[in-house]
Amino acid sequence: MDIRKIIVTGRMYKDLETLSTLDSTREYLFLPEEEVSSSHYDWADAYVAFKPTASFHFGKLQWVHALGAGVDAFLNNREWKQDVLLTRTIGSFGQKIAEYCLSYILSDVQDQDRFGQLQANREWQPSKPKLMSELKIVVFGTGTIGREVTRILGSLGVTVCGISRSGEPNAHFHSVLPIAEAASMLPHADWVINTLPLTEATELLFDSHLFSYMSGAGFINVGRGASVNEEALVEAITRGQVRKAVLDVFREEPLPAASPLWTASNVIITPHISAVTGVDEAVDGFLTVLNYLERGEEQLSQAVNISRGY
Ligand code: GLV
Repeated sequence: MDIRKIIVTGRMYKDLETLSTLDSTREYLFLPEEEVSSSHYDWADAYVAFKPTASFHFGKLQWVHALGAGVDAFLNNREWKQDVLLTRTIGSFGQKIAEYCLSYILSDVQDQDRFGQLQANREWQPSKPKLMSELKIVVFGTGTIGREVTRILGSLGVTVCGISRSGEPNAHFHSVLPIAEAASMLPHADWVINTLPLTEATELLFDSHLFSYMSGAGFINVGRGASVNEEALVEAITRGQVRKAVLDVFREEPLPAASPLWTASNVIITPHISAVTGVDEAVDGFLTVLNYLERGEEQLSQAVNISRGY
């Protein structure tokens, strides 16, 4: 693959201008999204961004590189041109997401909200926190993010079971089941964490049927919002099937002011911050793939399997 001309766009385009000094042999165009026109795609060999612009078409592109971990914005509602390589950033998303999950789980185990309220009322009411090693957590997604979440929770003694497309055993997890059998793992889960990518198979996966198998589990969504039926989640909280939900991703982002989730009880909302791409990891991630391509390497862990969708 001979990559000579590259468009870089999206919210990080200015920060990435450093690429033209780090790689002075190629021609780069750094543009805000609204300035990328259809003719830019007929000029460039490669496109680097978090998502396609409104004018996106394959034009002359041979390679599309996603600055985030998720590639659903590129693949959904689009017939991918088979000879165009799609790669994504791996970076430290697993570590970031693991720390995000851990912060809410630890706070819950230590009953921090309750002690905060008691303090406000000058009340002294001891209770005994559980140990992390007493928890059973089900992680949906056994890819790089799910595995890192599992490694970090596992280091505190948590029993982590995984759910994946294939259900193939994986050394990081206590056990792994395919998505179709996920329900059987849920009744004993203290927490359920979704790290899955959004594909046809995972859209609305968390529906009233799946929630009905949870008995008071905490639910964390750090995958994609469209994997969750938000009304069904609110009902599951009302029924006590889900005890608490920590949501970082939503079907529509920013979450509309009218969404009932803002005020639903036992719902914590964060604005898609559990794994924000840093400038350094965006630069490294892109240059790493570019170097592989220059050397003609074909088996890239960053490459997306288009038919699988991640
Ligand atoms: C964030 O959601 C990403 O896809 O990196």
